Order: sequence, then structure tokens, then C-alpha cells
Amino acid sequence: MQIEKDAVEFLSGLRAGETLGSPIAMLVANRDWKNWQEIMDPALREGDPELRRRAVTRPRPGHADLSGMLKYDRSDARDILERASARETTARVSAGAICRTLLKHFGVRIASHVVHLGGIDVPRPTAFPDDVNALADASPLRTLDPASDALIIERIDAIKREGNTLGGICEVICDGAPVGLGSHVSWDRKLDGRIAAAMMSIPAVKAVEIGLGFEAARRTGAEAHDEIDPAPASPLTGNVRRRTNRAGGLEGGITTGEPLMIRVGMKPISTLMRPLTTVDVATGETAVAVAERSDVTAVPALGVIAEAMLAFVVAQAFVEKFGGDSLREMRRNYDSYIGAIATRITSPAAS
Ligand SMILES: Cc1cc2nc3c(=O)[nH]c(=O)nc-3n(C[C@H](O)[C@H](O)[C@H](O)COP(=O)(O)O)c2cc1C
Repeated sequence: MQIEKDAVEFLSGLRAGETLGSPIAMLVANRDWKNWQEIMDPALREGDPELRRRAVTRPRPGHADLSGMLKYDRSDARDILERASARETTARVSAGAICRTLLKHFGVRIASHVVHLGGIDVPRPTAFPDDVNALADASPLRTLDPASDALIIERIDAIKREGNTLGGICEVICDGAPVGLGSHVSWDRKLDGRIAAAMMSIPAVKAVEIGLGFEAARRTGAEAHDEIDPAPASPLTGNVRRRTNRAGGLEGGITTGEPLMIRVGMKPISTLMRPLTTVDVATGETAVAVAERSDVTAVPALGVIAEAMLAFVVAQAFVEKFGGDSLREMRRNYDSYIGAIATRITSPAAS
């Protein structure tokens, strides 16, 4: 983490800060690249006795190493692991920033914070600050509770000394999206399904919860659903409000207008400095897995990636619903829809 100072350079697709319609190409330099030039040399060095430097024949449990070698007929797991590395999520965060920029024009904000790391639950605030990310970014772990940071850092340091790793859970929040994104009509248009798939595609993510998530399965209906009250002058929710937001802002695969609340669970990092047992594919013998340079945990970074993935899905749903060939056209479509739902339900109190 300490060698990475990511900055984006735009190579194409923009002019004077606006998109042109041509593909947007962004370059994020990898500072470690120069140390890998020989190992990843694209040339076939005829006669070199060590054609593949730092070949990996002892695949790491929990990585793509072994399944990838078998599937793609490789004898060196490096051909798999460099491509399987979560470094690709840099591209997701960069492209996700463009989706966020679109959403920002419509008052949609996406933020995240760490709610669990390495066996330690971070207490949730009773009221969320207006700018969740500003508070999360002030914490080295991206939590909203400074008292938990010290405890967790102690835990990370102890686990690092053991050569072990930790996982955790992030909560991602999207507010400002109106009722009506996504659809109930067919499975692949349901926004909850699309969000879950996007989150699950993040390396090391093994669980996604929407709203109460698994907790909803343990409750009765009366304790699991959100009762609805009239609420004049609440255009984003259709002039009603839910008393609670246990559904996490989604009913029937459609946004309710309440904030989207998604939790994403990440397993511990697969590369251990005290490596796990594996099989050496060159000899067929039991061996210890390779130990590549690796972090103890990546949970603070997970939230940033999950925000980008949510931005992709919500921006896509926005374009489906409001369409248009320019921002102004999209704005007209948006305003017309919001104007219509704002008068759709009028309570007696309001009339
Ligand atoms: C932000 C981030 C950083 C990661 N860093 C590492 C790392 O340093 N070492 C490692 O072994 N795995 C790391 N991982 C996890 C692996 O990429 C992931 O577990 C692996 O590709 C196998 O995929 P799967 O866990 O989804 O099955 C990281 C994941 C993320 C999201």
C-alpha cells in the first residue's frame, strides 16, 4: 500500500472536462512495475535456462492459482496470479468515479465505512453524519468510530506477527436515488440481484447483505418489513416514508427512494506469510504455499471498491430509466418523472 500513489491521467474521451462519446481511456501507473520487468518479460528469451523467473508451482489456497493452472493448462501459477490480482480493481474505482460524477448531478451520493474487521464489531453511529466518507476517510481503517480503530490496529499488528491475515465487513450507503430504479418484471432487471452480482465480483467478497440481510430471515414479518406513512413533500419516495429501512431501500428489485444499505463481507487475505499447506504441482508432493508480498488485510480498501461497483449499477439503472443523449435531456426526463410521482399520492392532510 505504501508504494502506491495512484493518480489518474486521462488519455482520451474528454474535452474541456466533458465526455465526447469516444472511449474514455485512463492511465494509472503501477509504481512496482519496474521491479517486475524481467519476471514478466513478454519476450521468449531463447536459450535462457530460467525462462520463467520466480515461477510459482506451490499454489496458494484461497487464490485462483491452482484452479487457474488446471483450467488454462499452465505449469507456472504466476501466469494466473498476476491477472487474478485485485490490482484490477483500480480500473473499477477509476471508471466508477465517472459513474459517480453522473449521479452527483442528480443528488445521488455513495459512501461506505468499515463495520467489522478481524473479529471486532465497530459500533454503528446512532445518527449518520451528513458526509459519511469525510468521517471514514479521517480514520486509518475507514471506520466511523475512532475508539474501535485503536483496538483493531492492535489486532492487525498481532495477526501480522503471526504471519496470518484478517477479513471484515463494509457497509455501503447510497442516498438520493428516487423510487423506481430497477424493475420487478424479469429476474435480470431486479436491482437487488444486479447489486449483489456486482459486489460478489469483487475479489475476496464472499457475502452480500441488503438491508437486514440474513437477520431478516430470523425475524417475524412484523419485525422485518417497513411500515409506510403518508409524507407530503417527499418526492423521491413518492410522498410516503418508511418508518424503518429494514429493506435497505429495495422492494421487488425496485428502489423505494429510501437509502440503499448494502453490507459486503470479505474473507481474510489468501496469501499468508506463514503459508498454508498445498501441493507442489511440479512434484506432486505436499508443500508449503508460496508467500508473495501481501497485506494483512484489505478491508479498508474494500469499501472504496464496493462504492465504485454500486455507482456502476445505480448509474446504469439511472440511464435505463431517464436515458437521453445529453445531461440536459436526462435532467428533463428526471424532472418530469419526479414531478409526476410527487403528485401521485396526495394525503388528506396535504389537501
Ligand atoms: C482491495 C483488495 C486487496 C487485496 N489484496 C490481496 C493481497 O495483498 N494478497 C492476497 O493474497 N489477496 C489479496 N486480495 C484477495 C484476492 O485478490 C482474492 O482473494 C483472490 O483473487 C481469489 O479470489 P476469491 O477470493 O474471490 O475467490 C485482495 C482483494 C482486494 C479486494
